[in-house]
Amino acid sequence: MRARAALQLLSAANFVAAISFLPVAAFAQADTTTAVPIQAFYSAPPNSSTSGTTYSRDVNINATTRAGTVTAPRTLTYTQTEYTPNPTAFRTACAEISSSYASRLSVYSSRVATDPDTIYPTRVPVRPREAWDCLYSIPLDRDLTLEFISGVAKYLQFQSTIEYLKNPPANSLQDPIDIIGSLEKLADQVRSGEIAHHIRFENAFRKLLQRCHDGHLGFTFNSASLVTFRGPFSLISISPDAVEKPKVYVETDLMENGLNASYITRIDGYEVEAWLAEFADFGSSQSPDARYNAVFANRDPGSDGTFYSLYGWYPGKNTISLTYANASTHEYDYRAYARWNSALNWTGIRTGSDFYQKVVLNPAYFQVSSSDEEGVVEAAPAPEPTSNENVYHVHDKKKVRKRQMRTGIATTTTSTRPSPTSTIPQLVYFNYPYMQHRVGPYVQDLNGIIGGYFLNDTLDTAVLDISSFSADDDDAEFQLAGFQAALSTFFAEARRRGSKKLILDVRGNGGGLVALGFELYKQLFPSAPAHSFYRIRAHEAAEIFATAAEQIASDKATEELVELIESVGIENVDGDAYPEALEVALAISSGFSRQNTLDVDGKKPEDLETFIGPYNVSGLVNDTVSLLVETDLNFPLQETDVSGFGTRANFTSTPQPFKKEDILFLSDGTCASTCTIFAELLKREQANISTVVMGGRPNDGPSAHVGGTHGSRVLTYANLLRNSRRVVSLFPPETDEQEQYLINNIPLALPFGFLYGAINFRDAIRPEDETATPLQFALEPADCRLYFSPIGFTDSVYLWGELSKLKWGTGSSFEGCAVGGLQKGEGSTGFVPDDPETVEIVNYILQPLRSP
Ligand SMILES: *[C@@H]1O[C@H](CO)[C@@H](O)[C@H](O)[C@H]1NC(C)=O
Ligand SMILES: *[C@@H]1O[C@H](CO)[C@@H](O)[C@H](O)[C@H]1NC(C)=O
Ligand SMILES: *[C@@H]1O[C@H](CO)[C@@H](O)[C@H](O)[C@H]1NC(C)=O
Ligand SMILES: *[C@@H]1O[C@H](CO)[C@@H](O)[C@H](O)[C@H]1NC(C)=O
Ligand SMILES: *[C@@H]1O[C@H](CO)[C@@H](O)[C@H](O)[C@H]1NC(C)=O
Ligand SMILES: *[C@@H]1O[C@H](CO)[C@@H](O)[C@H](O)[C@H]1NC(C)=O
Ligand SMILES: *[C@@H]1O[C@H](CO)[C@@H](O)[C@H](O)[C@H]1NC(C)=O
Ligand SMILES: *[C@@H]1O[C@H](CO)[C@@H](O)[C@H](O)[C@H]1NC(C)=O
Ligand SMILES: *[C@@H]1O[C@H](CO)[C@@H](O)[C@H](O)[C@H]1NC(C)=O
Ligand SMILES: *[C@@H]1O[C@H](CO)[C@@H](O)[C@H](O)[C@H]1NC(C)=O
Repeated sequence: MRARAALQLLSAANFVAAISFLPVAAFAQADTTTAVPIQAFYSAPPNSSTSGTTYSRDVNINATTRAGTVTAPRTLTYTQTEYTPNPTAFRTACAEISSSYASRLSVYSSRVATDPDTIYPTRVPVRPREAWDCLYSIPLDRDLTLEFISGVAKYLQFQSTIEYLKNPPANSLQDPIDIIGSLEKLADQVRSGEIAHHIRFENAFRKLLQRCHDGHLGFTFNSASLVTFRGPFSLISISPDAVEKPKVYVETDLMENGLNASYITRIDGYEVEAWLAEFADFGSSQSPDARYNAVFANRDPGSDGTFYSLYGWYPGKNTISLTYANASTHEYDYRAYARWNSALNWTGIRTGSDFYQKVVLNPAYFQVSSSDEEGVVEAAPAPEPTSNENVYHVHDKKKVRKRQMRTGIATTTTSTRPSPTSTIPQLVYFNYPYMQHRVGPYVQDLNGIIGGYFLNDTLDTAVLDISSFSADDDDAEFQLAGFQAALSTFFAEARRRGSKKLILDVRGNGGGLVALGFELYKQLFPSAPAHSFYRIRAHEAAEIFATAAEQIASDKATEELVELIESVGIENVDGDAYPEALEVALAISSGFSRQNTLDVDGKKPEDLETFIGPYNVSGLVNDTVSLLVETDLNFPLQETDVSGFGTRANFTSTPQPFKKEDILFLSDGTCASTCTIFAELLKREQANISTVVMGGRPNDGPSAHVGGTHGSRVLTYANLLRNSRRVVSLFPPETDEQEQYLINNIPLALPFGFLYGAINFRDAIRPEDETATPLQFALEPADCRLYFSPIGFTDSVYLWGELSKLKWGTGSSFEGCAVGGLQKGEGSTGFVPDDPETVEIVNYILQPLRSP
């Protein structure tokens, strides 16, 4: 193994930062925050200066027969509405935006002088075309773009599914995507001048990742900090009774007029479902139905939907037209905003070149020549938190709050919840407002992650509303402790009341802290096993990182760390008191160490080679991977142990609160990341828990209840870069050859700055699956599928009651399921089939978009 041989030559004892060969920039990449992505919806044809390339084809499909009574045109005529600015617009657009920004700030300054409560503005509306003109005027730097492409490929090598994406399993509904091959193609297009505008490069790169439909795989360039695009309003997909196929409405129209509102039949002249199929294809969920749901406004948890957020993209024009069933057609304005934040603003941006210099470039990348040892020390990133699992939301819950403000719905958020003042906080709240529900839950945790309800139905059904597995607030404390306390309190009350039925509502749950997924599972099934196996890609750089982790966290160093934690407590193992122990803890939590893992026989892999392999995968794909392992939840790296593990080991003798046949799993297909770990625990260890999925395309086919990314750990680019830094500072290369080897393989600073970059690090795998295919490519249908109905959309408490009656009682207003059923033998079976009609439309419409 080349990696190991090379590293063993490096001095393991050298803890002094003595890097002189690597750009200091490599370690100074700004830490990441989430942001609204930006992407042009349509790729500009390279050389056209005006709009209007028309594509048309006779499409012999009856798409509308699936959507209702609308008549579809026999021939779809697709006019690519791309608008390419002329050079005059280039010269003035950025300057105009910059001056709007300046005047907005000066208005603020004068107001704040008289009213100190004036809110600091963070955006100003601009015309979409003007925003695009400015973005389009950013020059392309060929050499740096090529440098970016080769640099980013080193990060993307950590994407666990990279080989599977090239050749995805049948039934996965994933288009084949060769990420590295596509990057090479992009490089060719940059070299040849076919891609001649920087923004077109950004969009092509983002589009490439987006089409992988993995919520853990993403990248947001800095330009999104300065410009964002928005749709005119939110749409909503509603069926009158949850069973009949839904129609698409303007949300506010439906809210005001109920089903008297006229539904949408066409968007920009297309049959509405054809347009939506194209649009939704850029969503991050693996399931097409979950991507479809993401287009629309949602109430639990609140979201405006991607028709409104536009994935942040330039929509190609200033207006959009909707045709309604009453035959009227209306034109609506798209919106665009110039934005800014504490790091990036419009000051001094008069031209595209200014934008390039101030926003696009990553200054840290260019500090190479001035790098010296002092610089290196200064550039050292802050220590990582020692929690051994990831925090991740596929859906940013902050949007919930924004939406609440926008719609003016009276509600509560964590900001109005009493905040803990003492060091021993109040971990749970009773009968306190929660999300947008008309009724507060019996109990919720201090961070508002979970709400536990008891319905007033004859069955006394209990409901856990779990729209996330982590708090909105990144700085939230006691997340596991609060979650644990809320669950224990809730289940104790359920026992006291004699509640027998339980609904687990994970609608909109994009994941969060892995420990919370295990906690919920163990509280439901205290004595049941809880196994969740994964593997990582064992490519060159992963081997380097694993080798470094092994040298830092050897068996001996790990034993010493565990003893230290047991004597002083994990919270006291900090960099000041125990710098070396902290290094060991960081190495273990990096994900590249075997020290907190267990193999399928429950044993710690005995050495590095056993852990990292590399093991060959062959068959559908050829790749090299690590051993199949799971996280050892008894390893004492968390401040609070998961129930059933570590100090809470005796939890296994707690009585199980509900029988599994008395549990109903409710989803909207979004369930991603930690939510898929939880769902898989239910599925693997507790087969046959009934499942319901809401919404999806109006095709009356089976639909997956777990449809988001099935990856079990995300790693950010910042995190990977920290690993590179640790390798180089702890084991500085001694020869040119070693140096070159590292430079060729490990992730380093990129020439372009970004707000967020991440890959999916771990593939979840079922040990009993002989093909060891990542669960990312498995879509399993819910037993019962229902569409959203007006009252079920606005009132979750009502929805739960009707579902409870449907499953266990009588008199539900839902006349069965749209697909499948909840009684024995009624469930949908088999793989979720593709929808050939929709696929045909998508392929047709995307054709001009996909071919460069
Ligand atoms: C579409 O519908 C028409 C009329 O109902 C029917 O004659 C035709 O065969 C259908 N086409 C397809 C491809 O199903
Ligand atoms: C654009 O068209 C002109 C003239 O047809 C040609 O010379 C030029 O190479 C083209 N540019 C690109 C980027 O294709
Ligand atoms: C729908 O129209 C009917 C008949 O005009 C009217 O009685 C009803 O109140 C309307 N519903 C709503 C929600 O406006
Ligand atoms: C048609 O329906 C739309 C959506 O409900 C409404 O905004 C519009 O006013 C209606 N037009 C007519 C002519 O009734
Ligand atoms: C805008 O950014 C510059 C740095 O580019 C900074 O000096 C300035 O204070 C910022 N202005 C505001 C209003 O935040
Ligand atoms: C149950 O009924 C009581 C009394 O009417 C009410 O206060 C409470 O909000 C109801 N709870 C739910 C979950 O509907
Ligand atoms: C894995 O594949 C490589 C290249 O095909 C081969 O050299 C190696 O022997 C294989 N390893 C195992 C353990 O089969
Ligand atoms: C995997 O490697 C084998 C042997 O080199 C080759 O025959 C096969 O086509 C490869 N499979 C894929 C999917 O690339
Ligand atoms: C577990 O042990 C703790 C402390 O020793 C005790 O308070 C608790 O009741 C025990 N739980 C069970 C389920 O036995
Ligand atoms: C789950 O249900 C299927 C079909 O009803 C049955 O064959 C199987 O034994 C059940 N599995 C468990 C673990 O109950």
